Amino acid sequence: MPAKINLALCVGPVREDGYHPLGTVFHAVSLFDDLTLTAAKPGEAKLTVQGEWAEVVPTDETNLAVKAIRLLERVYGPQQSGVEMVIHKAIPVAGGMAGGSADGAAALLAGAVFWDLDIQPAELLELAAELGSDVPFSLMGGTAIGTGRGEKLTPLLTRGVYHWVLALADQGLSTPEVFAKFDEIGNVKGTEIPSEMLAALTAGDVHTLAATMRNDLQEAALDLRPELAETLEAGLKAGALASLVSGAGPTCAFLAASETDAIDLENKLLAAPQVASTRRATGPAQGAMLTI
Ligand code: C5P
Repeated sequence: MPAKINLALCVGPVREDGYHPLGTVFHAVSLFDDLTLTAAKPGEAKLTVQGEWAEVVPTDETNLAVKAIRLLERVYGPQQSGVEMVIHKAIPVAGGMAGGSADGAAALLAGAVFWDLDIQPAELLELAAELGSDVPFSLMGGTAIGTGRGEKLTPLLTRGVYHWVLALADQGLSTPEVFAKFDEIGNVKGTEIPSEMLAALTAGDVHTLAATMRNDLQEAALDLRPELAETLEAGLKAGALASLVSGAGPTCAFLAASETDAIDLENKLLAAPQVASTRRATGPAQGAMLTI
């Protein structure tokens, strides 16, 4: 399952249920978590996590992949076999790139196929929304408008390939904390997505896309992590067309005009003292993909 960047994240005032209404443009990028599922004893949902951030990922019932399996069991009844899952992580943990959601989406799809459950795609998206606001998009991939709390999706037709450099942070940020800081700051602009951005994506106009990117959570993320402002600045100095915090952060995303520019930008960013690690990715990337 792919990671995501929010090209636009337009946030309204907090709702009574504690969620915030969003107008967002999700964009899947080519960093993928892999999940392998095999049979285990009935009732079991065992999880092992491998990869760079393995030690900071919970493997108990709080992991979205385990929650996805439990959700399927709740809705479709107990199954003859349990599951053992291995996740190989390439998406930064608590980085604002929907890494946990990607794993939840992967487990949902893998469990449904493994148990041969009679689920229509629309039902799968509904179950995904129950797991978390970003999970439906992790299934869908590509580029899509998200409304509601982010779970109501409309796919967007886009032209071209976009080149991204991502600056990763050592420590993650908690999404609820960033939203709470957003409420505290109180600078609410509303949920309307800039129409110029949608036109730019249809036309494949990277410069207008760069000019219209917006993240209403960025101010809150910078308040919690002031050093991210330097990272964003370093990217612009290094030639990025645009820089923004990804989702609730702390990963910073930089848009480049071409692959060569992205390579050059990545090298310059790595020379900046506050940037420890980077990734290059392209978007839009595909959503859930099964290999059996
Ligand atoms: O839906 P999910 O479980 O991923 O959301 C995690 C947390 O992020 C929520 O509990 C809420 O604090 C915050 N959130 C929000 N508004 C949204 C999405 C998430 O306030 N639209």
